Amino acid sequence: MKLFNRLFYKNRKFYDDDFDWNSYTEDSYERRLHNSVETEYQAVAKTGELSFDAQTGHVTSSTRQIHPNQQLIYEAIGQLQPASVHEVGCGAGDHLANGMALFQDVDFTGGDRGETQLELAQHRHPELKNRIGLQDITMPFSHHWPKAEFVYSQTVLMHIHTAVSHFIGLANMVRMAEKYVLLMENHQCHNFHQDIANLWNGGHFDWDSLYVYRFDGSTGARAVLLSKEPLDYPLLTSDAQMREGLKFSARRIKRANEDSARGIFGIPK
Ligand SMILES: C[S@@+](CC[C@H](N)C(=O)[O-])C[C@H]1O[C@@H](n2cnc3c(N)ncnc32)[C@H](O)[C@@H]1O
Repeated sequence: MKLFNRLFYKNRKFYDDDFDWNSYTEDSYERRLHNSVETEYQAVAKTGELSFDAQTGHVTSSTRQIHPNQQLIYEAIGQLQPASVHEVGCGAGDHLANGMALFQDVDFTGGDRGETQLELAQHRHPELKNRIGLQDITMPFSHHWPKAEFVYSQTVLMHIHTAVSHFIGLANMVRMAEKYVLLMENHQCHNFHQDIANLWNGGHFDWDSLYVYRFDGSTGARAVLLSKEPLDYPLLTSDAQMREGLKFSARRIKRANEDSARGIFGIPK
């Protein structure tokens, strides 16, 4: 082989997450939190400001509106009534703190791979002391991670695109969860339905049974809900069902397809 061809004989591709998580707090998260989330919504709610109506399954705020994604998370927790909840990639800890104020009998924990994110969470919510810690969900499963009945992520897996890390993160979340996994993510950033089906069929999930639903919040947000038991929500049968009515992003779908295609599932029988 000629030298030129030898240099370029491999069609190398590099994949990366959306952010450098080591500098993420300073680079963008803190600014976005203050300039966007906190100006548009009630980011932190005090005890008594949020309420859950068991009849409708809806959460309401007595002050400003909370973000539709947060609202969906609390509505799922209220409807499913888990004894324990773990947030993967808990960031500034607002969802955990609000959840603790709203559901005082539920045991909340959270993990994040960013030390500065955890420092920010601890600063904003001293009540999270001993409830949050370092966790990289794309590492091999750790028996030191807490187990919880309900495990969720909110805008975390959608940013993970390094090699097959998003598959590992998903499988780890299922293994941590005793009953449910909720993915409150951008549903064009990964083919969540397809990836979940492939992981399940390939034997990568540590559950004996799996039901996958589309869960809609009362103010327009939508999430993927995985459950060990059958539930009374619309079954999720395709990624198109999650993306119905969303503004189509060709760039995101292309990357989602490339991410899905990197998976090698199970072993041949
Ligand atoms: C867009 S932020 C969302 C934070 C929080 N969930 C929220 O809604 O405000 C993504 C978060 O995921 C965390 N993260 C990224 N990769 C992770 C991983 N592999 N394991 C755990 N956390 C991760 C980041 O440090 C960051 O806090």
